[in-house]
Amino acid sequence: MVAGTRYWDDIDGEFDIPVEEITGTLPEGLTGTLYRNGSGRWNIGSSPVESIYDADGMVSAFVLNGAGVRFRNRFVRTRHFVQSTRAGRPIGRGFSAQRPGGIRANALRLPVNTANTSVMMNNDRLLALWEGGRPHELDPDSLDTYGMSDLGGALRGPVGAYSAHYTLDPETGAKVNFGFDPYFPRIDLRWALRGVSGAERRRRLRDLVGEAVPRVRLRLYETDTDGVTRYLRAVPLPGMGIVHDMALTRRYAIFVVSPMRINPWALTGHASFWDSMRFLTDTPTYFLLAPRSGGPVRTVETDAFYHWHFTNAYDDGDDVVVELPRFAPHTYEGVKNYTAHVRSGSAQVGGADPSDAVVLTRFRIGSSGRVTREPLADFGCEFPQIDPRRSTRRHDYSYVAVQDPVRFQGQGIARIDHRSGAGQVFCPPGNVLVEPTFVPRPGGDAEDDGWVITVGYQESHHRSRLMVFDAAGIADGPVAEAWLPFHVPMSYHGTFTSRVAR
Ligand SMILES: [Fe+2]
Repeated sequence: MVAGTRYWDDIDGEFDIPVEEITGTLPEGLTGTLYRNGSGRWNIGSSPVESIYDADGMVSAFVLNGAGVRFRNRFVRTRHFVQSTRAGRPIGRGFSAQRPGGIRANALRLPVNTANTSVMMNNDRLLALWEGGRPHELDPDSLDTYGMSDLGGALRGPVGAYSAHYTLDPETGAKVNFGFDPYFPRIDLRWALRGVSGAERRRRLRDLVGEAVPRVRLRLYETDTDGVTRYLRAVPLPGMGIVHDMALTRRYAIFVVSPMRINPWALTGHASFWDSMRFLTDTPTYFLLAPRSGGPVRTVETDAFYHWHFTNAYDDGDDVVVELPRFAPHTYEGVKNYTAHVRSGSAQVGGADPSDAVVLTRFRIGSSGRVTREPLADFGCEFPQIDPRRSTRRHDYSYVAVQDPVRFQGQGIARIDHRSGAGQVFCPPGNVLVEPTFVPRPGGDAEDDGWVITVGYQESHHRSRLMVFDAAGIADGPVAEAWLPFHVPMSYHGTFTSRVAR
């Protein structure tokens, strides 16, 4: 992040204001609403919130109504937000934060739902997403919270989780998403021990105890253009891996399981979930290819790497191509305390050593299970986006947030042309730009015919602005900026809709 930054300071309230200061010219035809979500509340009373995972979600809306820009922000009124506000301090067990009171106060508690990771528009219904639980539905105009949703009863399992990362199928307009579903394997002791005694009985009993640990499967859902969600299938995971995102081809839903594991015994409350993370050595990474129409999941083993997000995936003959920012296998080497690791800045993308950089990578998975890979950019980047109309098929352009302190002083955005390999980079020093969002020009259908919009923080004046770029001219800088008189803290993910919020 920017040195000495106040980027992570709390925003000074909830606003609904016209943006008075616009530099450059807002493009004609660019109308709609950019929604963003992120950890927005870094202090509750006098207690700081120390983890990005546990800070309450704040949804922002930049409304481009044809006449100008309006800004609005609201904290999601989750149960945690309401109760901790009333108490004047954090009250829940987070992913990273423990409740005061030791093991007794934390045992058998799952992390509180902070609704802080992304947003989704379903047929004019706005959802704030968080991967560890159910989504919260918000009013798309006022951003008021209606409450937690089970998507018409579609969400399964005791948690009903619905991830922060859905994928669009542009052929049908459907959005495919997943949620984790922890479960205990069913063991019929009477049947398993039937007819055996003595040492054999004791051996089987020992094996069964070893089997009786919590496991995780993914539940796959599809939401159609009417906003109706239906359950598709289950995808068992090899171990309690963290699966943050998914990709989609015409044939498959694709997941990556890296050697990052949650220790299920964190449930006993002795340490936080994040501090119970295990980064396994000598363990491969797996691609899981789950046929969308059902049937056995293909598990493909490859060299270890970590990742959080996908760019895209597509079928290419019998091959499957998957693109994503690849974290090196040594990224988490020796990390015992993940919270301390993140706070120390060590987990930032692109460290002092170029081999630490996160490399945008194309994997090709052959029908035999052979995996090859090639780098697609020579700078560190994350939060990849594409023209959503190219989802599930080959795309020529990726848009990324550049995070490479070795090569660039600022954190900006870039466009990578995969036909030539050329990158267009815009990284003004002293600025932090978030995940870029591609907006197609109405009536156009060429892949780079449109705009890229993002939110940029300027450290020198401690303020943020909506930034609009011509998608084909990222290196030329923004064509328009709509400046807020204050800053907006880091947000992770967002979505643009052509619907103009009222
Ligand atoms: Fe994410």
